[in-house]
Amino acid sequence: MSAQTAEHALRAADEHVANASDAHSRWRPGYHLTPPTGWMNDPNGFVQFRGRYHLFYQFWPYGPQWGPMHWGHAVSDDLVRWEHLPTALAPSEEYDNGDGVVGYGCFSGSALVDDAGRLVLMYTGSVDGRQPPQTQNIAVSDDGVHFRKHAANPVIPVPPADGGADFRDPKMVQIGDRTYAVIGSSADGRGKALLYASDGDLTTWEYIGVAAESRGPEGSMWECPDLFPLADRYALVVSPMQGTVNTFPFVQIGDFDAVSGRFTSAAQQQLDGGIDFYAPQTMVDETGRRILIGWMQQWFQSNVTAEDGWAGAMTIPRELTLEGGAFKQRPVGEVESLRGPVRQLGAHEVGGQPLKVDTGASVEVRVLLGPSSARVARIAVRASGDGSEQTLYTVDRRTGRITCDRSLSGAGDVTSSHVAFDAARESLELRFFIDTCSVELFVDDGAAVMTNRIYPRPDSTGLTITAVGEGTLNVDDLTVWPLSARSAIPV
Ligand code: FRU
Repeated sequence: MSAQTAEHALRAADEHVANASDAHSRWRPGYHLTPPTGWMNDPNGFVQFRGRYHLFYQFWPYGPQWGPMHWGHAVSDDLVRWEHLPTALAPSEEYDNGDGVVGYGCFSGSALVDDAGRLVLMYTGSVDGRQPPQTQNIAVSDDGVHFRKHAANPVIPVPPADGGADFRDPKMVQIGDRTYAVIGSSADGRGKALLYASDGDLTTWEYIGVAAESRGPEGSMWECPDLFPLADRYALVVSPMQGTVNTFPFVQIGDFDAVSGRFTSAAQQQLDGGIDFYAPQTMVDETGRRILIGWMQQWFQSNVTAEDGWAGAMTIPRELTLEGGAFKQRPVGEVESLRGPVRQLGAHEVGGQPLKVDTGASVEVRVLLGPSSARVARIAVRASGDGSEQTLYTVDRRTGRITCDRSLSGAGDVTSSHVAFDAARESLELRFFIDTCSVELFVDDGAAVMTNRIYPRPDSTGLTITAVGEGTLNVDDLTVWPLSARSAIPV
């Protein structure tokens, strides 16, 4: 045990954070969680503990790029106003600290409140070159702020025979009276979700088997698996890697057999049609809601905010439901508490002239498209006055497809992404959550979501709605709310 090393590493991280001066740089969002300084990736340990929501995340405090992983920590009473707490975990032990090697640290994992009422984190200790490189470990806290790595670590010291050396991201879940951990792995070129169970104090784990695996197209490595009950079914969420290129997280809806530990998928869909969404994690809160939060960035995209000393953000939290078999993701209701004075801009028939509004940079915009003779609508957000900068959504009711084009979005990558919607519906509701450097679009009451980072100039704050081709477009409602979570207490 090297409690002193751990203590020292945490103190060094927090001193560095306290001395960082980039807290209010130009790209900082108005209502999304970002690291106090340095780098953020996956959400970790999402949990409600003694009434408060805790969110940890993959954190490298010393620079805006991935480095030896720490766990950053934030807390919230309402899921939308977050306050930073001291760094929760830092590399300090032989199983998570690899001075001199390329990659190491306290990799992704989850949290649970144990029978004694303590907050327990389970995470992957990763050290390139160590044999085996990835093991599962726990850390325990009485106060929800200070964590002790357990003397029994690694609590899962080796991968099972049918899993490979990639063995990470344990997600604990309570099913019946057992605690399970589902762990991401790769073997024979297939992503796998491995299942363990613990009946005791979370230091002893029994291997149950492979809960689910890729058939090939679903990826060669499954990162950040998450298995949970949803309505009368089960859901399995994974973030797949294919070869060296990450693709997009998906959810499978199906059934889970607690005896065999097998999950059987009946349906599968991509969770988010945008580019910047990865490694989502869910939790169930005291009201029984299943809530998901994702990393609002993606590997291999340009890291534009790095020039300001920070990188990475979290999505707004989404409530997951299954309604008559349909999987829905809606922004949690608490998001509405961020709203400033409403601007009800009413109904408009858009013909030859585009409808133009100045919304501001950090806003929610609700657009309700009614039955229209024009079959294609263009909605530009974060647009400059002359339109030379804009993020362009094309809503095509002939094909049932919404495309997001980032060609003119400012700095960052040029990409096009799309989601499908039910074009047979007469009305289409679009809820845009626009911020300093992102747009999340919720389509048709949570039927689809599209998350993209964008990097426009601060004064590109226009919204333009245009009817394309013949006919007119009925905008049955246009409502704008400024959104701000800036009341959060800074570090
Ligand atoms: C996913 C991931 C995880 C890993 C973590 C390391 O984005 O690659 O599999 O635990 O990031 O930071």
